[in-house]
Amino acid sequence: MTAKTVLITGANSGIGKASAIKFAREGYQVIMACRNLDKGRLVQRYIIETTKNSHVDLLELDLASLEAIRCFCNAYEKKYDRLDILIHNAAYLQHGVKEYQLSQDHIELSFATNAVGPFFLTYLLKDRLNKSDNPKILNACTVSIRHYFVKNRKIEFDNLQGEYKESRPYNTYRKYGESKMALLLLTFKMSEVLNKYGIKVNAIQIPAIKLSGDTRRQFKSIWRLSAEIQNAFGAEPETIANIYFDICTSEALNTVSGKLINNKLEVMKPSHYTYGLLQSIRQLLDMRVYPRYAEEEDNIERVWEVCRNMTETDFC
Ligand SMILES: NC(=O)c1ccc[n+]([C@@H]2O[C@H](COP(=O)([O-])OP(=O)(O)OC[C@H]3O[C@@H](n4cnc5c(N)ncnc54)[C@H](OP(=O)(O)O)[C@@H]3O)[C@@H](O)[C@H]2O)c1
Repeated sequence: MTAKTVLITGANSGIGKASAIKFAREGYQVIMACRNLDKGRLVQRYIIETTKNSHVDLLELDLASLEAIRCFCNAYEKKYDRLDILIHNAAYLQHGVKEYQLSQDHIELSFATNAVGPFFLTYLLKDRLNKSDNPKILNACTVSIRHYFVKNRKIEFDNLQGEYKESRPYNTYRKYGESKMALLLLTFKMSEVLNKYGIKVNAIQIPAIKLSGDTRRQFKSIWRLSAEIQNAFGAEPETIANIYFDICTSEALNTVSGKLINNKLEVMKPSHYTYGLLQSIRQLLDMRVYPRYAEEEDNIERVWEVCRNMTETDFC
């Protein structure tokens, strides 16, 4: 196997699909890790036809299930002895859901899919990444983490398995934001832990992008309008696919690890703004900074420990 390999989760839709096309065009061996194989097969065929790169593989992966992740990694290891780039792109955000949804491992579904899943997948694939001469991991974060600029906003660590589902109303966007903040915290710790293997780990802060048809159909009533507005003004998924590619391959970012990078390829920093109305507005508009909550060691260690416990691993 000479071509570099890239594994992209959720590669059958939106930004994941656009990224699979981009990497295929650039001559990579692309592994599409998808939950929905019917949809995945159509996209796989389309990518092979349009890019003329026949090295586009499709493997089944449900990130919300630890058992499914184990099966996926077994299948991967049988076929591939190395992994160069791992992109944690897939995410669960079910618009309009009002009830707690737990995964089969009894973890709130956003947290299971968007934080625990990437953690476990990384853990199981680290030996394959270790065989690459320049391994990279990229985690798809979002501007939603900016809600943590609000003082006292915290991940509800005591409610990750729906412990308070009777008394705390479910908010799908809040849970999504929590899971993505967790993914950012995991990025920092993964970078530190995987440094000994030479694996670089970064995250990207993705702004509002045009939504895929399947995602748009989830919106009901007034929310449909917000989706249409996002579609009218959001950038194309291809713009973020190009940024995924640049973060993982550009010479300028080659040694960067443990960072959040924005959609202008700027390495972001924890916010230095003080509290107060004017400062808060400037902070919110400054896309080069992220909430200080994300740099607090306690939060980083807590998420790491939670994921280790939930997956019963000794990732260190
Ligand atoms: N679009 C935006 O405006 C925006 C903004 C900020 C951040 N982001 C982030 O960018 C990434 C891509 O977003 P997108 O809008 O391109 O997404 P999308 O079109 O909605 O696609 C989401 C992908 O994730 C997959 N997925 C969901 N649950 C899964 C599971 N349990 N196991 C495996 N795959 C699963 C979906 O698979 P199925 O086809 O099986 O459902 C689909 O392929 C996500 O991480 C998202 O949070 C997007």
